[in-house]
Amino acid sequence: MKVLGISGSPRKGSTTDQLVLAVLSGVEGCDTEFVSLAGRRIGPCIACLGCVDDNVCKVKDDMVALRSQIVEADAYVIGGANYFSTLNGLTHVFLERFYQFRHQEGKAVAGKLGVAVGVGGSNGDRVVDSIKTFFQYNQVECVGGLSAQGPACCFTCGYGETCKVGAIHMFFGPGTKITPEMTPDLEKQRDKLEQAKGLGLALSQRLRRFAAGT
Ligand SMILES: Cc1cc2nc3c(=O)[nH]c(=O)nc-3n(C[C@H](O)[C@H](O)[C@H](O)COP(=O)(O)O)c2cc1C
Repeated sequence: MKVLGISGSPRKGSTTDQLVLAVLSGVEGCDTEFVSLAGRRIGPCIACLGCVDDNVCKVKDDMVALRSQIVEADAYVIGGANYFSTLNGLTHVFLERFYQFRHQEGKAVAGKLGVAVGVGGSNGDRVVDSIKTFFQYNQVECVGGLSAQGPACCFTCGYGETCKVGAIHMFFGPGTKITPEMTPDLEKQRDKLEQAKGLGLALSQRLRRFAAGT
């Protein structure tokens, strides 16, 4: 049995990557695989309906190489980032392309298990909700969800302390100096790391019961 972890953050090594990997680290007795969508060229579903007869998307981009990993996995840990209070674009277009699996009962994905992971400058709650809705729509049984805080780009862009519309002013107020102590880091969120591991364990336990038909 295999659990496929996918991070839809466009930043390699991001908090979303780390949180998905933390869930995978809790998985016991199953193989795990991690995929970052960073740098991949994936476009949206164009509703061409080219997939209705054979459940294979005809759009030729980096989603083609991911198809077999998605089909072969028994469970998914899907993580996305909070952009403008919703799922970031790269994660969204990736999920849109699951439309290819829906036709004719959608057996390649329906009936599998999933965990939803979200990261935001404030929190990733809305991302978790979006991924849970995606699971529901695609008949993936959701074992749980987890949200954490990541560093907004304003902490490192160079203008964070003076920019009036950025996260530093918004969260801490004008005149704030950026310090390492105030910069969000998953390593400081020990409770989230513990919860992530626990979710991975719960997912693998459910997966084994699922395979045994109990
Ligand atoms: C275009 C853009 C929009 C964003 N909008 C929000 C937002 O609405 N709410 C929020 O909490 N964080 C927002 N953020 C901050 C990200 O959620 C934060 O940097 C998070 O750590 C991203 O996940 P990552 O570190 O895994 O890439 C935004 C970031 C970008 C680049």
